[in-house]
Amino acid sequence: MTQDCFPHRHLLGIQGLGPEEITALLDLAEGYVLQNRSLDKRKNLLRGRTVINLFFENSTRTRTSFELAGKRLGADVINMQAAASSVQKGETLIDTAMTLNAMHLDVLVVRHPDSGAVKLLSEKVNCAVINGGDGSHEHPTQALLDALTIRRRKGALSGLTVAICGDVLHSRVARSNIYLLNAMGARVRVIGPRTLVPTAIDRLGVEVFHDMRKGLAEVDVIMMLRIQNERMRGNFIPSIREYFHFFGLDREKLAMAKPDAVIMHPGPMNRGVEIDSDVADDVERSLIREQVEMGVAVRMACLDLLTRHIPRSGEAV
Ligand code: NCD
Repeated sequence: MTQDCFPHRHLLGIQGLGPEEITALLDLAEGYVLQNRSLDKRKNLLRGRTVINLFFENSTRTRTSFELAGKRLGADVINMQAAASSVQKGETLIDTAMTLNAMHLDVLVVRHPDSGAVKLLSEKVNCAVINGGDGSHEHPTQALLDALTIRRRKGALSGLTVAICGDVLHSRVARSNIYLLNAMGARVRVIGPRTLVPTAIDRLGVEVFHDMRKGLAEVDVIMMLRIQNERMRGNFIPSIREYFHFFGLDREKLAMAKPDAVIMHPGPMNRGVEIDSDVADDVERSLIREQVEMGVAVRMACLDLLTRHIPRSGEAV
């Protein structure tokens, strides 16, 4: 595969990516799934390259999988937590970016609580930038790993009906998935209480349901979202008990979906809030563990594709 199939310097979001670009990335990731399952998990493709993970928000899966992805491709990977950096001393986002830029890195993976912050930063640095999640805006690598997980189980994305359920209002995962699934020809439903579904979401080409049983009828894929308390200003749900009763995924609501419908969750899960352990741990129906595995492969594919644009020192630009 050449870089022509992915002519972007950064990966800031799914919005704007076409189906060929998404497919090229997923196809490349398939190869990395095999590499990750083999004994020798390491390649030297990115030897001499430097990847910095700059995280201004907590993360388990995304940060670890970017670290593993970089290391398995032979890059030097450095993790920076904002809490331990000069950001705590008042350094601005741009100053931090310029400082890192001066160190000749190749890829900067950034997670930030403000929507748009990663794009702003990408305009100031010379390296490739990957959005590891910006506020409630986008989380492109999560949507790509979700797509790879679905494609491997269902064969294709096109023609499927996918329900995205819960705290859609605060979810960057929901937004990136809506863009990706629409681009790939899936039908998307959004399910949640009125307080947690933005009124204008139907403009993104989704069907909105406030009754979970109706919304889940005959769907192929159920994506559950975490209640994002940290982004809430005010009360959005009356009580956890009531939320679970109406919008928590349990056996009874799952029975509305197709008999072979699969369950997904980006993690971290709030068991007993948006999902019952009984269905989350169902080995036949739940793809939650597989999503984590696909996360490493997809992030390897992203690092691979984006570094193809950056000449090695000594090479002509
Ligand atoms: C998601 C995130 O941070 O946006 N988690 C993740 O990356 N696996 C979803 C969430 O925090 O609920």
